[in-house]
Amino acid sequence: MKILLLGSGGREHALAWKIAQSSQTEKLYIAPGNAGTSAVGENVNIKGDDFTEIKKFAIEKNIDMIVVGPENQLVDGLYDELKNDETTKHIAFIGPSKEGAKLEGSKEFAKEFMMRHHIPTAQYKSFTSKNIKEGFAFLETLKPPYVLKADGLCAGKGVLILSSIEEAKKELNKMLCGMFGNASDKVVIEEFMNGIECSVFVLTDGKNYKILPVAKDYKCIGEGNTGLNTGGMGSVSPVPFADSIFMEKVKTRIIEPTIAGLMQENIIYKGFIFLGLINVDGEPKVIEYNVRMGDPETESVMLRIQSDFVDLLQGVENGDLNTRELKIDPRTATCVILVSGGYPLAYKKGIPITGLKQAEETESILFHSGTALKNGQIVTNGGRVIAICSYGKNKEEALDKCYKVAKIIKFENKNYRHDIGFDL
Ligand code: AMP
Ligand code: GLY
Repeated sequence: MKILLLGSGGREHALAWKIAQSSQTEKLYIAPGNAGTSAVGENVNIKGDDFTEIKKFAIEKNIDMIVVGPENQLVDGLYDELKNDETTKHIAFIGPSKEGAKLEGSKEFAKEFMMRHHIPTAQYKSFTSKNIKEGFAFLETLKPPYVLKADGLCAGKGVLILSSIEEAKKELNKMLCGMFGNASDKVVIEEFMNGIECSVFVLTDGKNYKILPVAKDYKCIGEGNTGLNTGGMGSVSPVPFADSIFMEKVKTRIIEPTIAGLMQENIIYKGFIFLGLINVDGEPKVIEYNVRMGDPETESVMLRIQSDFVDLLQGVENGDLNTRELKIDPRTATCVILVSGGYPLAYKKGIPITGLKQAEETESILFHSGTALKNGQIVTNGGRVIAICSYGKNKEEALDKCYKVAKIIKFENKNYRHDIGFDL
């Protein structure tokens, strides 16, 4: 098979690494990829939002399957664009239709979907500038902290959690006045849920599904989950509290009603469903849906998938995912992200990275997040730079290996969290 993978981060390097291992992969292209993906496939210089170029390339290279890493193209309707074109509709596509991608693209759509299908989630109401007064009144009925969510995509920045009612009202006003552009023309206000979070990844062909290894990510920049939110500083899989009792509830109360709901509403969905869950006293509740894999969870999740991943993806395309095997490595996989100093605020790019060769000789697996090749030298090219991933018989052993490698890889102002997995 000739496969085109879209995206450029650590998630895509991990997906590319796994796809390249399949005996069914004849050729793998990554658009645009990064300095790491070029070791497992061929990088192609096409921007993710350039649907015309993606289609042209897919036809020219006889692509059999397109796998989408990030959410943007899905929310913008790449599936529909390809499937409504005679010249590209035969290409297998891993990712939902534009309608399905609204589960991530619109918080209000996702909440209404969950209400229609009785899927456990926080109580909520949504507001626009027209009924802001009602928004203030709704806030008065809630207990602190207050959760405000921009309806549209905000690159992970659209959720505010405020401790006082005054702040909540002030921020609601700012959001409805364009704080996140059009994405916050509508704001969902919801009840705060107290618990520990985990990420559950489901691969579905629209009818059948497989649950991929469960992972937990660490979003805050600071140790002990403090400071600003980042794209993710590390991950651990499996998650001890996501035991068989918890997962049975996730299956029957969340996954099955979600897939049945999509089918019932005639929403085409063949791809990944990412359930951002919170464990409230043993009861799983949905914080959010994403329509793609998580980053940096994918880096740990891919390490734990032993089966041929392309075979599973073919099951998605053919609608016979139930006949495919998903074998999971019983070991723990962990991921520690090295980031640029300053991130998630301003940081420098183009800093030379050393020690990669030596790091590659260890048992750990490196996935590049934000790197580029400049005059033959690998340099930093983003906030998140390298994902160091390791196996262990438990999280301590796996993390110990990650942290040894974290010392080997060097670049100016390197930063990372030393406490990944601390709360498990
Ligand atoms: P989201 O983008 O919806 O995942 O929200 C970002 C983060 O905000 C989540 O990972 C949670 O840590 C937190 N969060 C969102 N909604 C709630 C809620 N209703 N209760 C508690 N925490 C929440
Ligand atoms: N790790 C969370 C996300 O990918 O959105």
